[in-house]
Amino acid sequence: MELTVRELTKQYKDKRAVDGVSLRLTEGINGLLGANGAGKTTLMRMLCGILKPTAGSVSLDGVDVSSEDYRAVLGYLPQDFGYYPDFTGLDFLLYLAALKGLSRPHAKRKAAELLELVSLADVGKKRIKTYSGGMKQRLGIAQALLNDPRLLIVDEPTAGLDPKERVKFRSLIAGLGQDTIVLLSTHIVSDVEKIADHMLMMSDGRIILDEPWDKSRTDLEQLYMEEFGGDGE
Ligand SMILES: Nc1ncnc2c1ncn2[C@@H]1O[C@H](COP(=O)(O)OP(=O)(O)OP(=O)(O)O)[C@@H](O)[C@H]1O
Ligand SMILES: [Mg+2]
Repeated sequence: MELTVRELTKQYKDKRAVDGVSLRLTEGINGLLGANGAGKTTLMRMLCGILKPTAGSVSLDGVDVSSEDYRAVLGYLPQDFGYYPDFTGLDFLLYLAALKGLSRPHAKRKAAELLELVSLADVGKKRIKTYSGGMKQRLGIAQALLNDPRLLIVDEPTAGLDPKERVKFRSLIAGLGQDTIVLLSTHIVSDVEKIADHMLMMSDGRIILDEPWDKSRTDLEQLYMEEFGGDGE
């Protein structure tokens, strides 16, 4: 599979948030590193078909981002994902599964399987307001996986997580890249340097690094610092 992005641009009034981005992404973990305001969220929203580009195109194996077939194979965890605090984790998944058109038996099976996958099976019947930040983000991944996506877009999922939760989240993501195109944005080098198969770096709306990534490399922090001067961890 290939996600093909051609000359994608988003122009706000006097700000070009994404500036002529072209990419070809395939199965595996694709890390998208960039500082605040680099354009990661704007790019991802266009890749999800929820923000209309000023120019350019996005397709998955030739299927345009605007088509229903594209949406059917897309999973998305937005940066500002809203949870329903009074829902239980399980009910939340069942609710979203219904919205996505899964049959009730399929939804039940899938929700149980996903709660297991994200290590929330034992708290599935507890209300979301009792969850930690890390638990909420794992539930966020579970909802993004309800439709068995071939393309999974995850926007800064580790923001606000403590180091332990971050490690847990990282290993969860690492297990998903086998036959899925995973695109994960972050401004934290350690989120992606040991799990990414491909690395992208974004600055001021442009892609400034786009190459296969060797997980044994240890110079990502340095590359990032050279570009952004600090802020990485
Ligand atoms: N709706 C909008 N109107 C005007 N400017 C916008 C809008 N959305 C984003 N921008 C600007 O576009 C640039 C890119 O923003 P974006 O949110 O895509 O960056 P980001 O890399 O996701 O940052 P962060 O790490 O803070 O989430 C920023 O300068 C931002 O202020
Ligand atoms: Mg963002």
